[in-house]
Amino acid sequence: MFKESVVVVTGSSRGIGKAIAFAFAKEGASIVLNGRNSERLSETLGELKQVSANVVAVNADVSTEEGAKSLIDFALESFGKITYLINNVGISSRGNVGELDPKVIKAIFESNVYGTIFPTMMALPALRAEKGGVLFISSLAGIRGLPGLGPYSASKMTLRALVESIRIEEKNNGVYAGLLLVGITEVAHDKEVLGPDGNPRLLSPRSGRGVSTMTTVSKAALHMIRKRKFIKTLTFIGKINQLLNKLSPGLVEWIIQKNMAKFDERSK
Ligand SMILES: NC(=O)c1ccc[n+]([C@@H]2O[C@H](COP(=O)([O-])OP(=O)(O)OC[C@H]3O[C@@H](n4cnc5c(N)ncnc54)[C@H](OP(=O)(O)O)[C@@H]3O)[C@@H](O)[C@H]2O)c1
Repeated sequence: MFKESVVVVTGSSRGIGKAIAFAFAKEGASIVLNGRNSERLSETLGELKQVSANVVAVNADVSTEEGAKSLIDFALESFGKITYLINNVGISSRGNVGELDPKVIKAIFESNVYGTIFPTMMALPALRAEKGGVLFISSLAGIRGLPGLGPYSASKMTLRALVESIRIEEKNNGVYAGLLLVGITEVAHDKEVLGPDGNPRLLSPRSGRGVSTMTTVSKAALHMIRKRKFIKTLTFIGKINQLLNKLSPGLVEWIIQKNMAKFDERSK
């Protein structure tokens, strides 16, 4: 199904975006990689070239209009079309809303909201021409606002509104839009989040029960696009959270409060 497809994956030099790029490349798609750190990006480009000859990389910050435009323009120059855009770029922070430096809120919204709206707007004409689509990578924090993750939760909830709008706006153009809500997932060894003061801090490695692998997430992304699914929530906790939050949001609040110590540990 993807042999003739051109797939642009924002933020694909490491982590989940990289795993998604590899999954589509293995299905025969042409891939456009993206990231800001040029060293990491060219390393990933070299690795992906072992899997597919049809891969290019664009060093661009998609949270800016110019960066998003250069990504989409380069994809079109390289392959002549774009079939799917995967909006994977996303950063997170730690700290209660009352303690945050305002620059943290700005950084999260620039990256997670502008960094998905700009590439989407710029890719839409090409996606219409191919009757392709756009997949947004969200999080369980996009179901319900989580303590210590306020701006991140708010930014991921924004993605739901965008997907809902685009699905209706673009239906007659044949453009698909979907939202993948990802649970806690293993992370690249050098993944950082912003502390309350705006300085980056390294995340601890994650593994074990309840932690998704990047392969699970990339398979879900492939499946969603193949089936043109609207929304998919990953992990058992995610599905329960989704259901309980609809039935009894007060109960979910109580559960989170009762488990704050465990929750804090998992967010490190
Ligand atoms: N890991 C989890 O547990 C988890 C759970 C739920 C949802 N998610 C979501 O999944 C997505 C990927 O997460 P991840 O853990 O794989 O992240 P990650 O390891 O930090 O990777 C992020 C990627 O995006 C790139 N990037 C960041 N900002 C960018 C920008 N403005 N322009 C272009 N590239 C940019 C990074 O490279 P450079 O820094 O070099 O630009 C990197 O390639 C995010 O949307 C995240 O919110 C993750």
